Amino acid sequence: MDGKAVFITGAARGQGRAHAIRLAGEGADIIATDIAGPVDTVTYAAATEDELAETVRQVEAIGRRIFSFTADIRHYNALKRGLDEGVTQLGRLDVLVANAGILNAVMPSWELDETNWQTMIDINLTGTWHACKAAVPHIIDQGPGGAVILISSTAGLRGIPGIVHYNAAKHGVLGIARTLANELAPHKIRVNSVHPTNVRTVMIENESSARIYRPDLDNPTFEDAVPALANINMWDVPYLEADDVANAVLWLASDESRYVTGVALPVDLGMSMKYSGA
Ligand SMILES: NC(=O)c1ccc[n+]([C@@H]2O[C@H](COP(=O)([O-])OP(=O)(O)OC[C@H]3O[C@@H](n4cnc5c(N)ncnc54)[C@H](O)[C@@H]3O)[C@@H](O)[C@H]2O)c1
Repeated sequence: MDGKAVFITGAARGQGRAHAIRLAGEGADIIATDIAGPVDTVTYAAATEDELAETVRQVEAIGRRIFSFTADIRHYNALKRGLDEGVTQLGRLDVLVANAGILNAVMPSWELDETNWQTMIDINLTGTWHACKAAVPHIIDQGPGGAVILISSTAGLRGIPGIVHYNAAKHGVLGIARTLANELAPHKIRVNSVHPTNVRTVMIENESSARIYRPDLDNPTFEDAVPALANINMWDVPYLEADDVANAVLWLASDESRYVTGVALPVDLGMSMKYSGA
């Protein structure tokens, strides 16, 4: 990744920070953004400006340059303004990793309210499109080549009960990736989506998300959910670490995958292909 610049959304913590550190470790400069604050309807702890600053500190400690800014990916103009400034500062843009996302209400589809649905679609689907819309013209101008990596989920491949809005948004992200892969082929820009099973980050390590896997309990803890988390995967392993996803993102960002485009890559302990028996 020497000499390349990568734009990462949702970079304050979790997988976004892991991507920044992994890519910087291989030589990339980073443009990092995050809302770094609370989102209505999300009940687990919000990322903070201190956490975004910690991502900056860790990338700089590796010896790479990083430009960071706070923006809500629901607001296209703010996102574009920050990215444009970052590209000016770093002088180029080669790769987008659209990673920012939320998980909010867990309940049957027909009981979900409009606010939880709309917030989910605005962030996980429209926000991902905003990141593409802001970044792709820079990557085309930069040319030739480049990579766009959209972070979906196994929920972008399967219909996990209790999170219809998350499933719909993450399937939509796959639709964006497949469309862009065709549109950007003439520019030799590769576009792929990544579909992780559960990853041990704040998004799942909390009580409200545990309801997805323990609907039988009124107030499940994360520990209550761990056996069920392992059960959905082929391997008896409950979750990935953020670095497991970062390694896949690095491969898709690098020339090692130079002829890989339009692919939906599961990083999922076999979850999306698990045979559950008769
Ligand atoms: N954790 C999992 O089990 C899992 C599994 C599959 C896919 N994913 C996806 O991976 C991505 C990263 O999630 P994570 O596990 O690191 O969780 P996380 O909550 O630690 O990180 C998500 C980041 O996105 C940011 N963000 C949320 N809304 C935003 C907005 N409107 N504007 C800008 N930034 C915003 C948050 O502040 C946070 O820093 C998400 O797209 C998520 O849906 C997560």
